[in-house]
Amino acid sequence: MKIAFLGTGLMGEPMAQKLIDAQLSLIVYNRTQSKLTALKAAGARIANTPSEAIKNSEIIILMLSNAAAIADVLLARDTLPLLKSRTVIQMGTIAPKQSKEISEQIVRNGGEYLEAPVLGSIPQVKSGELLVMVGSSPEQFTKYSPILKHFGPEPIHVGTVGKAAAMKLALNQLIAALTAAFSLSLSFVQKEGVEVDRFMEILRQSALYAPTFDKKISRMRDRNFENPNFPTKHLLKDTNLFLEEAGEIGLDTTGLEGIQKLIKKAIDNGFSDSDYSAIFAAINPQK
Ligand SMILES: NC(=O)c1ccc[n+]([C@@H]2O[C@H](COP(=O)([O-])OP(=O)(O)OC[C@H]3O[C@@H](n4cnc5c(N)ncnc54)[C@H](OP(=O)(O)O)[C@@H]3O)[C@@H](O)[C@H]2O)c1
Repeated sequence: MKIAFLGTGLMGEPMAQKLIDAQLSLIVYNRTQSKLTALKAAGARIANTPSEAIKNSEIIILMLSNAAAIADVLLARDTLPLLKSRTVIQMGTIAPKQSKEISEQIVRNGGEYLEAPVLGSIPQVKSGELLVMVGSSPEQFTKYSPILKHFGPEPIHVGTVGKAAAMKLALNQLIAALTAAFSLSLSFVQKEGVEVDRFMEILRQSALYAPTFDKKISRMRDRNFENPNFPTKHLLKDTNLFLEEAGEIGLDTTGLEGIQKLIKKAIDNGFSDSDYSAIFAAINPQK
C-alpha cells in the first residue's frame, strides 16, 4: 500500500515517522522542504510538489493547519483531478462543514475521503497513543483502521464525515475553557498570597480537578511557553471554528467569546507560536 503524507509540521513529522517505523512505503511532502530532512534520513521518499506525492500513492494522509492549507495543497486545478481512485485521510482539525465540503469535492472527482482528527499531542504521537476519531462509512472504517492504528491503538468510529470533526471541536473547546479557568484561579491564589502547593493539594482531591492542570502548571509558574506541542495560533483557529459552528446552531457562546479575546491577547503579546498555556500570561500579565 503506497502512502503519501502531506504536511510535516509539529504533528505531521512524528506521525510520518511512525509509518516509516512500521516499514510502510511512504512519500512525504511539505511546503517548507527543510522540515523533511529528518524523514528523508529515516528512509522516506521526498516529493517536491503535492502532485508528485499524489501520483506516487494510493492513500493520502493530510496533517495540514486548516481548510485553506488543504485547498492550496490538494484541491488546486493541477491536484484535484489526480485524486481519482485515491483515498484521502484528513487528520487535521477543521470544521464539520469544511470537512463535508472537501469530501464532496474529492468524491465528485472520483476519489474517496474520510476524516480522522486526533486528540493528544507530540508525546502521544511518539508513544502511539493518540485518540483517533473517525468520520467515515463503516466500510471505510474497517478498511483504513489498520493504518490509523499506527497512531493510536483503538481508532473510534464516530459516524459519517463531519461527526468526528464536530467531536474534535467539542474537545478542543474544553482545552480553551479549562486552561483559561485554571489560569485565572492559579493567578488569583498567587496574587492573594495563598500557597500554590496547598491550592493544588486541595484541587487534586476535588471533583474540579483535570489532569491538564498538572501538565501546564510548571509552564505557568515559570512563564515558560517555549517549545510548544500545540501552539496558541491553532487553539485560536479551533476556538474560532467552534464559535462559528456553535453560533449557527443557536448556542449561547458568550463564555467562549471571552476566552477567545484572551487567546487573541496572548497572540498580540507575541505568543502565537508558543504553547497555548500562554493564556496564563494574558490573564496575569507581568508588571
Ligand atoms: N500540535 C498538536 O498538538 C495538535 C494536536 C491535534 C491536532 N492538531 C491539528 O493538526 C493540524 C496540524 O497541527 P501542527 O501542530 O502539526 O501544526 P504546524 O506545526 O503549524 O504544521 C502545519 C502544517 O501545515 C502546513 N501548511 C500550512 N499552511 C499551508 C499552505 N497554505 N500550503 C501548504 N502547507 C501549509 C505547514 O507547512 P509549512 O511547514 O511549510 O509551514 C505544516 O506542514 C492542525 O489542524 C492542528 O490544529 C494539532
